Amino acid sequence: MRYTSLIYPILTISLASTAYARNKQQHPINSPLLTPAMPPPSSSTSTPGGDSTVILSDVLGNDRSINIFAGFTRDFAPISKRFEDSSLNTTILAPINSAIMGLPRKPWEDLEDYDKLGAEAYEGGDGQDRAQRNLRRFVEAHVVPASPWKEGEKLKTLAGGEIWWESRDGGKVIQPGNIEVSSIASKVHNGEVWILKGVRNYASQ
Ligand SMILES: *[C@@H]1O[C@H](CO)[C@@H](O)[C@H](O)[C@H]1NC(C)=O
Repeated sequence: MRYTSLIYPILTISLASTAYARNKQQHPINSPLLTPAMPPPSSSTSTPGGDSTVILSDVLGNDRSINIFAGFTRDFAPISKRFEDSSLNTTILAPINSAIMGLPRKPWEDLEDYDKLGAEAYEGGDGQDRAQRNLRRFVEAHVVPASPWKEGEKLKTLAGGEIWWESRDGGKVIQPGNIEVSSIASKVHNGEVWILKGVRNYASQ
């Protein structure tokens, strides 16, 4: 599968180089004078209650633990545009990297495609288009076009599936699917970034 074999090495390289760059940046010299002056970039992402100038597109890339999902969103202009639009509020449900890496199949693989087209489903130009459409649906199933988003409020994701959340043990759980929210990474002018411990069921959304 050409598409599959391409994207993961690229991701791995970019993850590795990001980690490398950040390590270098955070430990320029082992000097106690310099170290406290360089907070990690993610600490500056959010002002509780929403900063008036910072928007989702500024902060989505800040948290390394969700940079696979953040990378996926950049493939789709209408989605990126939404995150750049300060007049459209969005709650981004970003699955943590390990949840995406641990999926039994890649986010762009659909069992129906394999049933219909066999193992070659993502080969060639048509295959790449199909993979791209599926990946878009995966991303859209993790984008809720509203913020603030109240508990129990049933909304439709950009992919069209209904979604809501419930409080549990002091945290939040996305429904359907019982997906735990591990933290809220950012709250900015046009929305929030929530980090999910799992992925939403994307095949039928
Ligand atoms: C958009 O989010 C801001 C918080 O950043 C909130 O004050 C505002 O009411 C929201 N707008 C809508 C239409 O929900």
